Amino acid sequence: MAEKIRVLIAEEDVNKKISEVAARINRDYEGRPVHLICILKGGAFFTCELAKRLTVPVSLDFMSVSSYGGGTESSGVVRIVKDLDEPLEGKDVLIVEDIIDSGRTLAYLIEILKQRGPKSIRLCTLLDKPERRVKKQVKVDYTCFSIPDEFVVGYGLDYDQKYRNLPYIGVVEF
Ligand code: IMP
Ligand code: MG
Repeated sequence: MAEKIRVLIAEEDVNKKISEVAARINRDYEGRPVHLICILKGGAFFTCELAKRLTVPVSLDFMSVSSYGGGTESSGVVRIVKDLDEPLEGKDVLIVEDIIDSGRTLAYLIEILKQRGPKSIRLCTLLDKPERRVKKQVKVDYTCFSIPDEFVVGYGLDYDQKYRNLPYIGVVEF
């Protein structure tokens, strides 16, 4: 299928915004180490770009989850495909996601991670589609961009595993 990608947010705008969000995180966590949890695969590009701009002490871990159920809607029952390597006990955890859509994945994940005794858990996302939110309790602490309900790719986000490597955010036009 020959889909087209229309640029929604240009590379320089994404990078500028990530720097702004990183500056906020540096202020908020001043003097405290932050433990970043990258949600694979989509969160990988954003996590790297964010981490490079942090001046507080950073540790990194990775987790991969998949949502049960078919179709385009996530079910909210999350299967851990790759668990974290490190314990969370006493850590200031910052979950780094590519996009929050219904919020089902994150709502479930936050409950799992809370049980591991972190000192705090905050959530940072590159993109948010607030119109799509089903789980209203999912509170996003750091958002780079709120976007309308369109299917986007690039900067880690995929369509059928393609386009993750685009250095900008684009809308898929079929
Ligand atoms: P949620 O549980 O509905 O919030 O699902 C969020 C997940 O759905 C994200 O981590 C993405 O993997 C995927 N997703 C949602 N919207 C998009 C999109 O526009 N492009 C690519 N993936 C998306
Ligand atoms: Mg994801």
